[in-house]
Amino acid sequence: MIISTIEFTASGSVRILDQRLLPGEETYADLNSVEEVAVAIETLAVRGAPLIGIAAAMGVALAVGKLQVAGGVGRDDVRRVVAGAIERLRGTRPTAVNLNWALDRMASVAASADADSMFDVLLKEAKAIHAEDAAMCRRIGEAGAPLVKHGATVITHCNAGALATGGIGTALAPIYLAGEEGRLATVMVLETRPLLQGARLTTWELARSGIPCTLMTDSMAASRLSNGDISWVIVGADRIAANGDVANKIGTLGLALLAKHYGVPFYVAAPSSTFDPATATGADIPIEQRAPEEVGRIGTQRIAADVPVWNPAFDVTPAELITAFITNEGMIEVDEVPGRAVTRSGGRDSEGSGWYGGKAVGR
Ligand code: MRU
Repeated sequence: MIISTIEFTASGSVRILDQRLLPGEETYADLNSVEEVAVAIETLAVRGAPLIGIAAAMGVALAVGKLQVAGGVGRDDVRRVVAGAIERLRGTRPTAVNLNWALDRMASVAASADADSMFDVLLKEAKAIHAEDAAMCRRIGEAGAPLVKHGATVITHCNAGALATGGIGTALAPIYLAGEEGRLATVMVLETRPLLQGARLTTWELARSGIPCTLMTDSMAASRLSNGDISWVIVGADRIAANGDVANKIGTLGLALLAKHYGVPFYVAAPSSTFDPATATGADIPIEQRAPEEVGRIGTQRIAADVPVWNPAFDVTPAELITAFITNEGMIEVDEVPGRAVTRSGGRDSEGSGWYGGKAVGR
């Protein structure tokens, strides 16, 4: 299950798989300026919480690389360009904390690098963020794979697969690894209005990996859950607050409420870069509002009268609706989320590694 979503090319560009064109076209685009990287993130050419963090990190390295190619630059110019790149990229999308997490790491290594080695240092860090994300995805897969029983039927929303990350995904990782072990689950994919990440992206990557999947519209989830044949629901996350509340693609909250009603387990899969102990509750998570055209049109076709549109890209699912988190450090209960008062004996946050310490979390 390898999809190359992003790479830093030998010629100093950020090469992305343009996800706006899927599933019709598998087209790679070379981004050659911070502005191009920022616009790619804003327009969802690259999307998914972990992947936008990786793209932003590569964008910072790209900025310095292009500056050096131009030549005749002083030390102050290098620092100014790094700061400007970080500021522009930080402003692209507000909800996924992985973006800030990656940019904080880039700012931190830039602060202690000298101007001459800045590009090398930044590129090394961006590549490390990419590689670490791939490793975290695999560990999420390993933690969640035992949940996947052969022949089970599960529901997912949006795209939290390989396309959203630098590896095999988060929510889809357990399904891919179980598939490699011969245990195939059927994935019921919610289309995910308005931008159709489920229909366009999740079906595309599952189908090319040989994982059975069935598409349905978002409004069909209740009916399907009421049938009684859904084993569990799994989604990704854009930010997990200290109390365990989860921001994820709009529609996740409704799905979690339905799962609770029908007694179906509801799992959230996420790497440690998505946990944000600095944000107390879901109410403190900034929710991105997107353009009205995304709802009022399909493609170029207008589908509604010219009326106001409410278009939040994400919603917040209260921790109480979540059965467990599937993370790169294993399955954890809501009370074990970093930042909650209850910490398991030998807690992760006491030793300077794992959630709080080291590079895995960076806060
Ligand atoms: O607007 P998007 O497509 O970037 O939203 C993506 C999601 O909501 C994903 O579920 C989330 O980022 C987790 S991806 C591993």
